[in-house]
Amino acid sequence: MDSHAFFTVWILTAIGSCLCQDRAVGEDVEFRLINPPPAPPFQINWYFGSVLIYAASAGTVNGVVPSYEGRASLDPNTATLELRNLTVNDTGEYTLRVIMSIGQPEKEWKTTLRVFERISSVTLEANQTELVEFNSSVTLTCSASGSSPSFQWFNNSAEVTGSDRVLLDNRTLTVLNVTRYDNGPYRCNASNIVSFEMSSDVTLTIAYGPDSAVVTVEAEYYSSGDNVTLNCSSESSPAAQLQWALNGTLLDEKGPELRLSDVLTSDSGDYNCWAYNSKTQRYKLSSPTSITVLERLSDAAITIAGSPGPLIAGKSSVNLTCEAKGSIITRKWMKNGETLSPETGRITFSDDNRTVSISPVQKEDRGEYTCQVSNPVSNAEGSETLIVKYGPEKVEIKGEGHEGAVEFGQKIHLSCSAESVPDCTYTWTLNGTDKIGTGASFIKENSVYEDSGNYTCTAFNNITKETNKTDFNMSVKAPGSLGGQGGLSAGPIAGIVIGVLVLLAAGGGGIYILTYILKNKR
Ligand SMILES: *[C@@H]1O[C@H](CO)[C@@H](O)[C@H](O)[C@H]1NC(C)=O
Ligand SMILES: *[C@@H]1O[C@H](CO)[C@@H](O)[C@H](O)[C@H]1NC(C)=O
Ligand SMILES: *[C@@H]1O[C@H](CO)[C@@H](O)[C@H](O)[C@H]1NC(C)=O
Ligand SMILES: *[C@@H]1O[C@H](CO)[C@@H](O)[C@H](O)[C@H]1NC(C)=O
Ligand SMILES: *[C@@H]1O[C@H](CO)[C@@H](O)[C@H](O)[C@H]1NC(C)=O
Ligand SMILES: *[C@@H]1O[C@H](CO)[C@@H](O)[C@H](O)[C@H]1NC(C)=O
Ligand SMILES: *[C@@H]1O[C@H](CO)[C@@H](O)[C@H](O)[C@H]1NC(C)=O
Ligand SMILES: *[C@@H]1O[C@H](CO)[C@@H](O)[C@H](O)[C@H]1NC(C)=O
Ligand SMILES: *[C@@H]1O[C@H](CO)[C@@H](O)[C@H](O)[C@H]1NC(C)=O
Ligand SMILES: *[C@@H]1O[C@H](CO)[C@@H](O)[C@H](O)[C@H]1NC(C)=O
Ligand SMILES: *[C@@H]1O[C@H](CO)[C@@H](O)[C@H](O)[C@H]1NC(C)=O
Ligand SMILES: *[C@@H]1O[C@H](CO)[C@@H](O)[C@H](O)[C@H]1NC(C)=O
Repeated sequence: MDSHAFFTVWILTAIGSCLCQDRAVGEDVEFRLINPPPAPPFQINWYFGSVLIYAASAGTVNGVVPSYEGRASLDPNTATLELRNLTVNDTGEYTLRVIMSIGQPEKEWKTTLRVFERISSVTLEANQTELVEFNSSVTLTCSASGSSPSFQWFNNSAEVTGSDRVLLDNRTLTVLNVTRYDNGPYRCNASNIVSFEMSSDVTLTIAYGPDSAVVTVEAEYYSSGDNVTLNCSSESSPAAQLQWALNGTLLDEKGPELRLSDVLTSDSGDYNCWAYNSKTQRYKLSSPTSITVLERLSDAAITIAGSPGPLIAGKSSVNLTCEAKGSIITRKWMKNGETLSPETGRITFSDDNRTVSISPVQKEDRGEYTCQVSNPVSNAEGSETLIVKYGPEKVEIKGEGHEGAVEFGQKIHLSCSAESVPDCTYTWTLNGTDKIGTGASFIKENSVYEDSGNYTCTAFNNITKETNKTDFNMSVKAPGSLGGQGGLSAGPIAGIVIGVLVLLAAGGGGIYILTYILKNKR
C-alpha cells in the first residue's frame, strides 16, 4: 500500500478495525489524505456511495451537487473534503478517486462516515411498581430517542448484571420473583457512540413478610393487681396488622402493645400474636408466651390435728397442715430452724408438702415448726409449737449420806427424779409393799434399823398414764460405824458394838448383818 492509503480527520475517532468516522448530527467532518499530494492533482472526484458529489481538476473546483451547497467544501490542492452540519442521511461510504497528473492511473480511497442522532428523552418505566416478595416479577423498560441506543442498568448505583432471576435484554430488565432487596432505585443509561443520557430513578415498592411475630414481656410471673404490657413485633412491609390471642382464642385486642391492667389470676395463660400483611396476604403466628398471675402470699399458718386429747409419745399421731392466703407454689418445712426431712415410715410429707404426718409422735418431735410458702412473687411463713407428752423415763433416786447407808438416828433423805412431760408424780415404797410417802423427796428424820431395805420410787405421768420405777438400797448402820460421819458420840458407837455382839450371840442373823455392813462399806 502506498503512503497515501489512509485518510485522517481532525478528530481521531475510529472504532475497531473499521476506518469509520463517527459524528453526531450537526457536527462537521473533514476527509483528507494523510500525506497531501505535492502538487494540485489533475482530477479529483468525491463520491457518496455511487453518487458523485464533488469534483475538481487542476486546482479548480468545477462541480458540486446542489444538496451539498453551503455545507460542503473541497480543497482542490489537497483533495480535502469538508462536510458541515451533518445529518443522519450523511451516513455512508465516501470514495475519493484521484488522477495525480495526466497519463497517470486513477487511485481510489474509501472511508465510511456514520452520523448519529444524540441520545435524548431517556425514560424508564416499570410495568408495575407495587410488588409482592417472591410472587411478583417486574419488567423495566428503558426508552430513548437517538440513533442505536444501547442500555446499561443500575440498581442503587451498582451496575446490574444478569442472573437466573435477573434477565437483561436490550432495553428491558426483568426481575423474576422479586425479593425485598430488589426495590432499587433503578436507572438506565442509554448511550451510543456520540452521547449518553441517564434516566430518572424508578423505585419499586415490594411488600414482604410478616417474617415472624415475636412477643416480648418483662417477666413470666406477676402479682395480681400488676399492670402487664406485652409487645409484639413483626418484620413486615407494609407494617403488619397485629392481633392478640390468649390460649389460642383471638382477643378483641389489636396493635403492637397489649396492656393488661390490674391483672387477675384468670389472666394467666399463653399469649400469642397474629401478624397479617394485607398486601402479601400472609399470616404469622408468634410462639406462645406464658404469663402466670399469682396472688401474693400472706397469713401462712400451721394447723395441728392429732388424735383427740394430748399428743402422747409413741401413741399419738399428728398431722401438721400448712395453709396460706394466695397462690402457693412451694411449701417447705422447718423444725427449730432446720429443714425438716421425712423419716421412713414415721414422718411423711404429702405430695404437695401441704401436710406432714407424724405417726407415732416421739418426744424428739417437740419443737417449733415453721412452714415457708412461696411463689415467684412472694413468700410467707407461719410457725407453731408441737408439744408431746412423754415419760416418765430415766427414773433415778439419789440418796444423801454415805453411799446408801446412814447411821442409826441420822436423817434419811432420798430424792427421786424422772424426765416427764408434764411433770410426773412420785410414790415411795419400802421392801416392795409398804407405801411410805409421795413427792419427789423422801425424808425420815431419825432412822431406825427397820428403815433399811429396798426403797422404790414409782413415777407416774397422769397424761401418758405411764409408770416407771427404780430401786435404791438403804441401810441403817450402827452409830459410829460409818467413821463418825454425822458426828456421832461414843455412846451410840458403843451401843452399836454391843448390839452387834448381842446379835452375834443370837446366831446366823447377826452374821448376816455384819457381812451386810461390810459389803456396803466397800
Ligand atoms: C443544519 O441543518 C439543518 C437541517 O438539516 C438546518 O435546519 C439548520 O439550519 C442547519 N444549521 C446550520 C448552522 O446551517
Ligand atoms: C433524509 O432522507 C430522507 C429520505 O431520503 C428524507 O425524508 C429526510 O428528510 C432526510 N433528512 C434530512 C435531515 O435531510
Ligand atoms: C410485568 O412484567 C412481569 C414480568 O414479565 C409479569 O410477570 C407481570 O405480569 C407484568 N405485570 C403487569 C401488570 O403486566
Ligand atoms: C419463581 O417462583 C415460581 C413459583 O414460586 C417458581 O416456579 C420459579 O421457579 C421461580 N423462578 C425463579 C427464577 O426463581
Ligand atoms: C434492541 O431493541 C430495539 C428496539 O426494540 C431493536 O430495534 C434492536 O434490534 C434490539 N437490539 C438487540 C441487540 O436486541
Ligand atoms: C396500673 O396502671 C394504673 C393506671 O393505668 C395505675 O393507676 C396503677 O397504679 C398501676 N398499677 C401498678 C401496680 O403499677
Ligand atoms: C389458659 O390455659 C392455662 C393452661 O392450660 C390455664 O391455666 C388458664 O386458666 C387458661 N386461661 C384462660 C383465660 O383460659
Ligand atoms: C392425717 O391425715 C391422713 C391423711 O389425710 C389421715 O388418714 C389421718 O387420719 C390423719 N391423722 C390425724 C391424726 O389426723
Ligand atoms: C417439698 O419440700 C421439699 C424439701 O423440703 C422441696 O425440695 C420440694 O420442692 C417441696 N415441694 C413442693 C411442691 O413444695
Ligand atoms: C426391790 O423391790 C422391787 C419390787 O418392789 C424388786 O423388784 C427388786 O428386785 C427389789 N430389789 C432388791 C435388791 O431386793
Ligand atoms: C425391810 O427389809 C429389811 C431386810 O430385808 C429389814 O431389815 C427391814 O426391817 C424391812 N423393813 C420393813 C419396814 O419391812
Ligand atoms: C396430773 O398431775 C398434775 C401434777 O403433776 C396435776 O396438776 C394435774 O391436775 C393432774 N391431772 C389429772 C388429769 O389428773
